[in-house]
Amino acid sequence: MKVLILPDRAAAIARVAEIIVAQVSCAPASVLGLATGGTMLPVYAHLREAHRGGLSLARITSFNLDEYVGLPPDHPASYHCYMRENLFDGTDADAARIHLPRGDAPDPQQEADRYEAKIEAVGGIDLQLLGIGRNGHIGFNEPTSSLGSRTRVKTLTEDTRMANLRFFDDEAQVPQFAITMGIQTILSARHCLLLATGRKKAAAVRGMVEGPVSAFCPASALQMHPRATVVLDPDAAEALTLRNYYDHIHPGGRSRLYSELHRG
Ligand code: F6R
Repeated sequence: MKVLILPDRAAAIARVAEIIVAQVSCAPASVLGLATGGTMLPVYAHLREAHRGGLSLARITSFNLDEYVGLPPDHPASYHCYMRENLFDGTDADAARIHLPRGDAPDPQQEADRYEAKIEAVGGIDLQLLGIGRNGHIGFNEPTSSLGSRTRVKTLTEDTRMANLRFFDDEAQVPQFAITMGIQTILSARHCLLLATGRKKAAAVRGMVEGPVSAFCPASALQMHPRATVVLDPDAAEALTLRNYYDHIHPGGRSRLYSELHRG
């Protein structure tokens, strides 16, 4: 796991955007796994800016991590709506290659199976963008989610429902269930890129990076991934025991190659 601690929140966001832009620039037909939530809003603002500066999204294929069960794509709190408003509208992304689970599917589990099969059919995800919940969830894989899980329906914890209350009119409207990629679906991506900012995420970040691999902290499964990059601001990194070591390896959050350090 590569842990990059940037000097501040804005720098952490910019670093993640830079990695995504580099991926799409080098491989314009990349398959991207995308996340929603508050943390990603400024990342998508950067991507829209990069698009205005000439980056084309026309050939990308995307799969979002999750969607609330029961919400149709035009519901203002749906992740379909979030993605259109915050990233895709006004870009040249091809709507036919943008994928999110249908929250209003008559049979949500069948929809989850269809979604998983579709990811496989395009050859898997090149770069999976992730946020982290305060309880260590990735996607909507809440604590005790099977580390071997694939896309399926999950029951949201009360903590997650309350954290997302701000996107709904009142508590009763916050869905109880979501269709989410499973942990194993996420681990199948060729590169996982997780962004966490703010002190509220510090305990979850510690569990993910330095805790035991455990279904109790689903994000800790990333320790098993051969190419996982975790980008943090100082607040989210605050509880890490080996923080100085991560700073030493990647000063200021810049990658340093062993070969560069040992030249000559
Ligand atoms: C949403 C998702 C979630 C969020 C997480 C953090 O697609 O995958 O795992 O990344 O709940 O949300 P924020 O960024 O709002 O703190």
